[in-house]
Order: sequence, then structure tokens, then C-alpha cells
Amino acid sequence: MVIASTLPTLDKKMEEEVLRALREEFFVGGKSVDEFEADFARYIGVDHAVAVSSGTDALTIALRCLDIKKDVITTSMTFVATPESIVLSGARPKFGDIDTESYNISPEEINKLISEQTEAIMPVHLYGLPCDMKEITDIAEDKGIKIIEDAAQSHGAQCGNRKVGSIGDVGCFSFYSTKNLTVGGNGGMITTNDGKIAEKARLLREHGGSNYSKYIGYNARMNTINAAFGRVQLQCLDQWIKRRHEISKLYKDKLADLMEIKLPIINDEHVYHLFVIQAEQRDELKEYLRKEKIFCGIHYPLPVTSLEPYKQYVDGSYPNAEYLATKALSIPMYPTLENKDIDFICQIIKEFYGEK
Ligand SMILES: Cc1ncc(COP(=O)(O)O)c(C=O)c1O
Repeated sequence: MVIASTLPTLDKKMEEEVLRALREEFFVGGKSVDEFEADFARYIGVDHAVAVSSGTDALTIALRCLDIKKDVITTSMTFVATPESIVLSGARPKFGDIDTESYNISPEEINKLISEQTEAIMPVHLYGLPCDMKEITDIAEDKGIKIIEDAAQSHGAQCGNRKVGSIGDVGCFSFYSTKNLTVGGNGGMITTNDGKIAEKARLLREHGGSNYSKYIGYNARMNTINAAFGRVQLQCLDQWIKRRHEISKLYKDKLADLMEIKLPIINDEHVYHLFVIQAEQRDELKEYLRKEKIFCGIHYPLPVTSLEPYKQYVDGSYPNAEYLATKALSIPMYPTLENKDIDFICQIIKEFYGEK
């Protein structure tokens, strides 16, 4: 038996919808995309959703929509697409260290980084846990700066009674294969309550307005079959989040007493895109699990501030992110993971540390 670190769900209904869209529609854009946008906007609780071809495009286009050209405060521990989109849009990333419990950038850290040059904050709801959006929104309102939520890992996560992606000026989602919601290929979504932002995003995703171009844009349209696939997945999302919660509680019950590991925050807001533990002898444990055909991931082996292209933007220190990079281990987490798999994973982890 092989236990993957993550596994997207594929069922008959998804396959059938893809075939239907392929036969009845025009391959790119169209009715399925319009309907996916409408369903997603309703789910997140915003007025507009604009489908694009990746999460990276969503972030880059969102920044362009807001005309951000100076500093964007973001976290040092994220997937590289976060700072990449900032640079691609023509702005500059300004990195902060992470909080040692939530692994997200904290409002205090953001406050320290704000300067005359700050035009936006890009909080990343890392691993599926929402940032402290109440405090971050207060800071942004006070300073007159914009918020672009990187919600690529947190579809359906709640901050109080609001979903992430509906709180900042713009929210950006990814539907890449490992994400909580996938589209059978690459895809992304921009969410906003601002009609003007949505209108500009629609132009930018299609060459800035195609034959009547108003901007230098992108070819970032969503394919029809991806939207058709995503619509079916969206109907399953809440059920899958519920299962992710059950799995996180099982991990907690079985692993909480192990001194050598630290569990992530377990609460109702988290959607557990990843279940990231901090582990002593992390690399040895990963290898031990692999020998038992249990595959784990590392998110991320380096903070983005240690990556060559981003060093030029670094002007601080990131000890918490650097520490997490040496200890973080993403143990298997996906809705179809069975209870017996969880028992086995926990048994092998305990065995590694010499416990029964
Ligand atoms: C935090 C974060 N931001 C942005 C992205 C970019 O999304 P995509 O891979 O769809 O371009 C991802 C995922 O890949 C991500 O995890």
C-alpha cells in the first residue's frame, strides 16, 4: 500500500462534465466558465469572481488591477509564486518573518515594515490557516493601503463569519492539482466586491482587451473543461473540508503526546490544505516513512528570502521562517485518506521515535 502526501479527487461526475463541456462548448471560456465564476463568487461571498489560468496569474493581475508599483508587504515563508507575482506585476516585495505558532505573518511584523513606499499587503493564509485579518484590515484602513489576499491554499477557510478571499480588496485562489479545490489542470480565481477591479481583471486576462486593448495584458483565460471540472468539485468542497477536520483531530489524538514533534494549530478556521508538523530529525523521519511507502512533503525547504532571485529585496532577518524550513514536514492530508492509513502513519512515526 502506498500513501501519497496529497491526492486530488476524481469521480465519474467530474469526468462526465468535462466530456460534456468538451463536446458542447468552445474549449476556452464560455458558459462553464461563467457558471463556475458565479458559483465561486456565491461560495466565497463576494460580488465578482474572475476565472484565470493559474493562481500566479490571479495574483499578478490583482496587483495590476490595483496599480501597485511600490512596496508590497508579504511573508518570507510561502510558495515562490507569491513574491514572483509581485515582481512580475512591477512592484517590490517587502518580506516579514512568520509567527512561530500560526506560521503566518503577524500584524506586529506588518506594522514594523510599513513605510512611505508601502502600497499593499499580501497576506498568505499559509497551509489553510487564515491570517489575523481583523488586525491586518485595521492596519490597511489606517494607512490607506490595499490588501490582496493570497488564498491559494485556503479555499473555504473562515475568519469569523467571512470566508478568506472576501476580506481584502481582492482575493486570489489557485486550483493547482495539490489544492483543496482543483480543476483537472491549472487554474485560478480572482474574487472582489469591486466591480471596477473585476472589469479590469477581465480585460487583463484577455490581452488587456484583445483587439481593442486598453492595457498590456496576459493570455490568462480559463479553459472550458477546467471550469466544468471545478464546478463539480466546488459542490464537494465543504464535505472535504469536514473530512480534513476529522483527520486533523485524529492526528492530534494520536500524536499530541510525542515530545519530538509539534502539531499545527487545530481549530475550526483552518482548512488543512497541508498538515504541517515540526519534527526533530525531520529528514530522517521523512526517509523512514518513505521506506514504509508513506510519502511526505516539505513546505518549504527554504524561505523565499533565501532564494537567489529574491535576495535583492531582502533587508531584514527571518529566523522563524528559517527555523521552520529545517523542521517542517507535511504529513499526508487529503479527504480520501482513510482512518486505517492515519493509524498506520502515526504508528510508524511513533516507531521512529522509539515509542509504541
Ligand atoms: C501560497 C501560494 N500562492 C500562489 C500559488 C500559485 O498558484 P499556481 O500554482 O496556480 O500558479 C500557490 C500554489 O501553487 C501557492 O501555494
